[in-house]
Amino acid sequence: MDLKLPNPVTRLSQMAKADMASVDRLIIERMGSPVPLIPELARYLVEAGGKRIRPLITVAAARMVGYEGEGHAMLAAAVEFIHTATLLHDDVVDGSDLRRGKTAANLIYGNPQSVLVGDFLFARAFMLMVDAGSMDALHVLSRAASIIAEGEVRQLEAAGHIDIPVSDYMAIIEAKTAALFAAAAQVSPIIAGRPKAEEDALETYGRELGLAFQLVDDALDYGGLAVKLGKNLGDDFREGKMTLPVALALNKADKNERAFWQRVMVEKVQNDGDFDTALNIMKRHNALEDTLAQARAHAQTAQDALAIFPKNPWSEALAKLAEFVVDRAH
Ligand code: IPE
Ligand code: IPE
Ligand code: MG
Ligand code: MG
Repeated sequence: MDLKLPNPVTRLSQMAKADMASVDRLIIERMGSPVPLIPELARYLVEAGGKRIRPLITVAAARMVGYEGEGHAMLAAAVEFIHTATLLHDDVVDGSDLRRGKTAANLIYGNPQSVLVGDFLFARAFMLMVDAGSMDALHVLSRAASIIAEGEVRQLEAAGHIDIPVSDYMAIIEAKTAALFAAAAQVSPIIAGRPKAEEDALETYGRELGLAFQLVDDALDYGGLAVKLGKNLGDDFREGKMTLPVALALNKADKNERAFWQRVMVEKVQNDGDFDTALNIMKRHNALEDTLAQARAHAQTAQDALAIFPKNPWSEALAKLAEFVVDRAH
């Protein structure tokens, strides 16, 4: 699918145009600082775009449940700030050199600068959450922020351990990625004062969509869409990062293949052609398709979670978004 064609993200952005304009305004306003490097570095990443999926979910979920106030835009901007901060930190941690189709900020401004501006954005996210005025929303989002950090640290520890159980891998992606999606969706019924059942349903929607999203991202790291993704192919491979495609290929590995994974992922001895070999092994064992099939199942669970809401254009757009998260891989 060509990401430039109208897709559920674009459609949702159009439906939520006024809300998203408020979110963008808040993002620009709240990344301001008298220390010039801060807005400069933040703007470098923010102006590169990004799909804005998480704040779109917050805004759409708020509209779906009939929220009519202004707090959702602040929470949506806070969600995007948390996401942006984690990207700045993540690219330092992963040594990535491409983000949103541009040279990663850390390569332009330096690692310390990226880390500190990430901290600044985190802090500004907290100010936005406080301004939104809901202690419960603040609780949910601040908990998500700490869970993301836990996920990233756990992932560091798992790197190079080719025998980590799939359940550990799932716990890592649930923490580093799905927790923020879950919180982004859950805060909307919270500020709208909706019943707990709606909160739970949207939390499930966000979490399951987030799992699908990261599974697809991990498949795409070995697939052919890097240009459209604006990130480099093979980053996970080079880092020896254990992701589901590798775990699934390992489950079916013969002796030679196991020795290969041991060398490239554990000993990190990687030669020209090893990435292609990895890809061929994965193809032989259907590891990428099986990863996408798992992503599809989570996207379906996300859609099912919306069943308790009356059908309206917002619930339909959120359902379509869950499908798109998986379709973008094709
Ligand atoms: C990237 O998220 C980080 C992951 C969880 C894989 P996105 O793909 O949503 O990043 P942007 O904001 O659109 O660049
Ligand atoms: C993204 O994780 C950052 C977080 C979810 C915190 P990854 O390292 O897997 O994603 P990309 O490929 O850099 O976007
Ligand atoms: Mg990364
Ligand atoms: Mg990472």
